[in-house]
Amino acid sequence: MIQIAVLGYGTVGSGVVEVIETNKADINKKAAEDLAVKYILDLRDFPGDPYESKVVHDYNIILNDPDVTIICETMGGTKPAYEFTKQALLAGKSVCTSNKELVAAHGPELLKIAREKRCNYLFEASVGGGIPIIRPLNYSLTAEHIDGITGILNGTTNYILTKMDKEGVDFDEVLKEAQEKGYAERNPEADVEGYDACRKIAILSSLMSGKNVNYEDIYTEGITKISSADFKYAKQMNKSVKLLALSRDTEDGFFAMVAPFLISREHPLYSVNGVFNAVYVHGNMLGDSMYYGRGAGKLPTASAVVSDVVDCARHQGKTIMCFWDEEKVEVADRKRARRKFFVRVPADKREAAMGAFGALAEVNVGLAEEFAFMTQEMSEAEFDEKMEKIGGCLNRIRIMA
Ligand code: HSE
Repeated sequence: MIQIAVLGYGTVGSGVVEVIETNKADINKKAAEDLAVKYILDLRDFPGDPYESKVVHDYNIILNDPDVTIICETMGGTKPAYEFTKQALLAGKSVCTSNKELVAAHGPELLKIAREKRCNYLFEASVGGGIPIIRPLNYSLTAEHIDGITGILNGTTNYILTKMDKEGVDFDEVLKEAQEKGYAERNPEADVEGYDACRKIAILSSLMSGKNVNYEDIYTEGITKISSADFKYAKQMNKSVKLLALSRDTEDGFFAMVAPFLISREHPLYSVNGVFNAVYVHGNMLGDSMYYGRGAGKLPTASAVVSDVVDCARHQGKTIMCFWDEEKVEVADRKRARRKFFVRVPADKREAAMGAFGALAEVNVGLAEEFAFMTQEMSEAEFDEKMEKIGGCLNRIRIMA
C-alpha cells in the first residue's frame, strides 16, 4: 500500500482525490500497488465531506509520517508550497505538483534535491493541464534536438480570444462574461497579461534546452490591447489572433516570448479554440508534433497529477531522469528576432507609415478613419525604430511565420 498526502483541498486537490477514487482499480493495476490518500492538508475543515477524517492542519503530521511516500502539492503559489516541497523532498518523499509558479521559480533546485534523495519531483500538470507534454519532452522525444516550441498555454485567454473572433465582441465584454461563468478569475491579471503562459513556456523551454530558462527573462505581452477591429482585419487576412508562448533555439541564440500573434488558417494552432490548449513542438528528426487537450479544469489537471503519482509508485527509490540543470540559458534580446508585423495607424499617418516602411501590404476592411498594413520581415529593433518615426499606432500585432 502506498500512502499519499494531498496538500490543498481546492479545485485540483479535490480532483486528485476524486480521480484516485473513481479510477481506483485501473490506477492500482498500473501502479502495481494499491494507492490510498492518508492525509489532506488544508487550513479549512470540510464537515460532511467523505474525506473529512483525513483533513489535517499541521504539515508536520505528514512530514513526520514515514508511511507517506508521495505528496501531491496542489496549493499553488510559492509560499508555503516551496518550503513544504523542499522539506518533503529532503525527507525522501516524492512530490507531484500542478504548481507552475513554483516549478518555474525553483524547478532545478527541487529536481536536484530529488536526485540527491533518490525520490521524484514531477510536474506534468504544471503545463497544459491534462495534456501530456512534460512526459513526451522527457521520455518520448529524447532522440530529438528540439529547436522550437509554440504553445497556446492559457485557457482563459484562448477562451476570450475565440469569443472575440467568433462573435465580434470586445475584450472587456468577453472578460466580464468569462468571469461571470467562472472561466476567468476575479483578478484576471496573471492570465490576461500573459504571466501564466510565461511561466509555462519557461518550464517547457527549460526542458527543451536542458538548462534553466528564467521566466523573468521572457518578454511577455498580454491580450488587453486586442480589439474587435483587430479581428476584422484578421478575418480579412484569413488569420486569427492567438496568445502564443514560444521558444526557438537558433544559431542566433535562444529566443522566447509570450505575445498575441496573427496566425493563419493553415497553422495547426489556428483551430485550437475555447479553453483548449495545444503545444506544437519541432524536433530536428521528427519534424512537427502537436499535443492538444484540456489545459485547465479540476479533473483534467488532477488526472495529470495522478499520472505522476503512478510514475512515482513505479519508480520507488529511483529518480526519473529530467534534463533541467541549474545552468542559466541566456535568452536573446527580443529586438534581434525577425518577423512580419500587422499595424493599424490613424488615417492621417498613412504617408508617414508608407515613408517609414516602404514596401507594405495594405489591409482594408472599410474603416475610413484608419490605415492598416502588413510589413515586410524585419527585426523587432528595426520595427520599433520605424514606429517611433511614425509616432505610435492604434495597435500592432506580430505575425507568426
Ligand atoms: N488560469 C490557467 C488557464 C489555469 O486559464 O489556463 C491553468 O493553468
